[in-house]
Amino acid sequence: MDHFNYREQQLFAEDVPLTDIASHYGTPCYVYSRATIERHYHAFADAAKGHPHLICYAVKANSNLAILDVLARLGSGFDIVSEGELRRVIAAGGDPKKVVFSGVAKTADEMRYALQLGIKCFNVESEAELMRLQQVAQSLDQVAPVSIRVNPDIDAKTHPYISTGLKANKFGIDINDAERIYQQAAAASHLQVVGVDCHIGSQLTETQPFLDALDKLLALIDRLAGLGIRLQHIDVGGGLGVRYQEETPPHPSEYAAAVVERLQRYPELTLIFEPGRAIMANAGVLLTRVEYLKPGQEKNFAIVDAAMNDLIRPALYSAWQAIVPVQQQSDRATQRYDVVGPVCETGDFLGKDRDLAIAEGDLLAVRSAGAYGFTMSSNYNSRPRAAEVLVDGGNCHLIRQRELWQDLWRGEQTLP
Ligand code: LLP
Repeated sequence: MDHFNYREQQLFAEDVPLTDIASHYGTPCYVYSRATIERHYHAFADAAKGHPHLICYAVKANSNLAILDVLARLGSGFDIVSEGELRRVIAAGGDPKKVVFSGVAKTADEMRYALQLGIKCFNVESEAELMRLQQVAQSLDQVAPVSIRVNPDIDAKTHPYISTGLKANKFGIDINDAERIYQQAAAASHLQVVGVDCHIGSQLTETQPFLDALDKLLALIDRLAGLGIRLQHIDVGGGLGVRYQEETPPHPSEYAAAVVERLQRYPELTLIFEPGRAIMANAGVLLTRVEYLKPGQEKNFAIVDAAMNDLIRPALYSAWQAIVPVQQQSDRATQRYDVVGPVCETGDFLGKDRDLAIAEGDLLAVRSAGAYGFTMSSNYNSRPRAAEVLVDGGNCHLIRQRELWQDLWRGEQTLP
């Protein structure tokens, strides 16, 4: 459920008509709904209420400071994968003690920065990383809290580019090697073993692969306890899917409740979730205007002012996202269009074969664009990145201004 609804054939974000946002801030423009973000966060938090837990929102899904601020105010922690993301969390007022640091290539500098801030945990992905973390912690005379990201070899049954829990993927440590590596970590002078984590992929639409992974992690926790290594938390990663089209993923509360239920035998083990998409995807739309309609023999094209540089998911993963008119026009004929952008690439499309009743100048909203939309955008074709607006009831906040022309070459130099 989200807060983007039609009122008398006009699409609103909460109490604000999207036409007003387009005329005020221009297009392309990302529009987010605060109430939707809060609703999704609470779905996880409420379902986990009976068990010690922490929701660490995956910053990569949408890292705008205002979004992080909204979540920090709800008490959210953060899953980060770079120093840049950690700096954003701090700039937004997030609590470093609620930050877990994932990612396969943490540099010594990143480790140092995170250690000095006192983050909750390093989610370690290899033996080499464990060794480096020990050295960095020792050089600072600090103790680094660690979790081992285990790769449980579970097929998440999702797009191959966003599947991460198979042996063939670069992520995590083979679960069969985990005990040995935990013993190594436990023996290290400047590491403290605090948890275990996994993340098997993104846009999962069934609960079962999550539960299969969880069972493998719990069995590992039992074996570690037998070796005298007791963990304080279990981090089940992110990955819960959303409905883009016909998918029927479990509701976050249903998913979280199923996980909590499995943890009954472990009342002291804090449960960590790292949701990104499930919180943000349906809390945002990409607002765009039709520049031209170009009829053709084989295809009709609706050429809009947003492109693959603004939203790359359709081009990169063949992702399907709904494209809807901002003002429904019942008197117009519907035609089938490929909705394409101005970028000089055949792959520059936002949607294919969409039935739309539109004319030049109309506004369209690409739905489910709140996660992995703006964060994956670029300046390709020297296009300034879009504005971002957060709607809160009847109020709009410009949370990122549209890039200026001079932003395009900031830091560049002509020759002396
Ligand atoms: N935790 C870790 C360690 C991750 O690698 C990810 C996502 C998450 C949490 C959050 O996963 P989520 O709840 O959002 O599924 N760009 C792709 C998605 C890539 C996800 C990468 N890792 C897309 O647009 O579909």
